[in-house]
Amino acid sequence: MVQAQDDSIEKILRHYADVQGGLLPCLHALQAEWGYIVPAAIPRLAKAFNQSRAEIWGTLSFYSFFKTEPPKPFQIQICQAESCQAMGARAIFKSVTAYIAQNSHLTDVVDIEAVYCFGNCACSPCARIGDQVLGEVSAKQLNTAVEDMVAGGGSD
Ligand code: FES
Repeated sequence: MVQAQDDSIEKILRHYADVQGGLLPCLHALQAEWGYIVPAAIPRLAKAFNQSRAEIWGTLSFYSFFKTEPPKPFQIQICQAESCQAMGARAIFKSVTAYIAQNSHLTDVVDIEAVYCFGNCACSPCARIGDQVLGEVSAKQLNTAVEDMVAGGGSD
């Protein structure tokens, strides 16, 4: 398992290391492989891109898209950009976060994330459950959608 992971990291690094501006596409490829940036990749990224580990971590922490921990099986994203914010998205985010935290069958399996615009602003506030973007959502609707997603075992 570890050797297979090492081999995959090396293969991805070889593909991007000599590409100008290759770090970000490399990070995307690594995340696509495991759903997050595995810790073993960090020192190798530093070496391949001639940067310090701190610089690699700096890039990872700057872009919220990149994950440094394994994702939970179910994902919900709630838009916090201007249009959705104007339509109450901050309160919705807090409410859904609290709902997940208060329900132990959800806490360990659902990741909730603030994101910034799905390009669906006319239907603000918006959220994504699994692969499905929902518009004009309420906290109550999202709580139900999260329950349905987890009960159904799928992302849509
Ligand atoms: S601001 Fe939320 S979808 Fe655009």
